[in-house]
Amino acid sequence: MKHILVLGGTGFVGAHVCEKLVRAGFRVSVPTRRAVNARNIQHLPGLTVLECNVHDETALTQAMADVDGVVNLVAILHGTPESFDRVHRLLPDKIARACKAQGVRHVVHVSALGTDWRTPQSCPSHYLRSKGQGEAALMQRLGWPFAWDDSGREPARTGLTVLRPSVIFGARDKFLNVFAALQKVFPVMPLAGAQAKFQPVWVEDVAGAVVRSVERGFSGPPSWDVYELVGSRVYALRELVQLAAKLSGVGQGRGRPVIGLPRWMGQVQAVILGLMPGEPVMSLDNLDSMRVDNVASGHLPGFEALGMSPSALAAIAPTYLLSDRSGEGLLGVRRHAH
Ligand SMILES: NC(=O)c1ccc[n+]([C@@H]2O[C@H](COP(=O)([O-])OP(=O)(O)OC[C@H]3O[C@@H](n4cnc5c(N)ncnc54)[C@H](OP(=O)(O)O)[C@@H]3O)[C@@H](O)[C@H]2O)c1
Repeated sequence: MKHILVLGGTGFVGAHVCEKLVRAGFRVSVPTRRAVNARNIQHLPGLTVLECNVHDETALTQAMADVDGVVNLVAILHGTPESFDRVHRLLPDKIARACKAQGVRHVVHVSALGTDWRTPQSCPSHYLRSKGQGEAALMQRLGWPFAWDDSGREPARTGLTVLRPSVIFGARDKFLNVFAALQKVFPVMPLAGAQAKFQPVWVEDVAGAVVRSVERGFSGPPSWDVYELVGSRVYALRELVQLAAKLSGVGQGRGRPVIGLPRWMGQVQAVILGLMPGEPVMSLDNLDSMRVDNVASGHLPGFEALGMSPSALAAIAPTYLLSDRSGEGLLGVRRHAH
């Protein structure tokens, strides 16, 4: 039975990945900062939870003893440039070193649409830049993409799949749920980046692509690939906000008026939201990410190349947005944002 270490396995996508890996017959281990964070997955048969600081390279290397494959889902959406660097660049670099030390066969790294390991500096936000630097660190440290050229370097022995999803929706998302919860409280919806485009993808499809990539990593010689994971339709952010309200029954299904904010007002709004306690609903860095449309480039393979087809948001979102949480008020907004 192949053994997979899933970093970030306790999170929104990670829980689906763990469930699918267990179903597919893998033995799964999940390092976490706090064992209590793993309560949603600890019941899965054949899954082991390890309390471990993944930033400690010695502990990370130990956690990879006897491991055949690694999935990395660790990320942050908000933070300082230093924390983005630590989580999105330095951690992948440590993962690559630990994989080489332990002879791990394949790494599946979940990155983000809109970044590129070749040109991270041209990305518009700290989030996307650091994600691109993380991809580059994995590529370089594992010996890709020039592993088989004539430079006389040692051939890469650890394969790498980089998956770049657009924004992810699903029952526990912090995206459609947050927009729905906000509109249950406020009569109008001031929105920065209203025209920004997204191609939302279902969490089950992303998790399926991770598992497919793990399985492929064990067939044939080690190789590297990058996939863009997007849903079947492109939406403007304004449409998604309206859809979230309508599908969750806000205003008897009519939703709320959405008022597009000019960039400077969006920045003021982001600063104010950032001052509220807890994780912000929207940060200045998120706004910067939206300066580039979050849609497939068309130059890279996607679900089809993995033998999958993405599900439609319009078919899935009503199944969870319709559940009645109208009594939650602002608590509902904070709950979904965390
Ligand atoms: N959600 C989206 O819409 C979206 C869109 C595009 C790309 N992605 C990418 O998909 C991947 C999974 O996203 P997600 O939404 O599932 O994330 P998530 O729910 O926030 O989970 C991330 C996991 O990473 C761990 N983690 C967080 N901060 C950490 C830190 N400072 N040090 C160590 N571990 C830390 C946490 O595990 P513990 O608490 O157990 O330690 C957490 O379970 C990420 O790479 C993300 O960038 C997500």
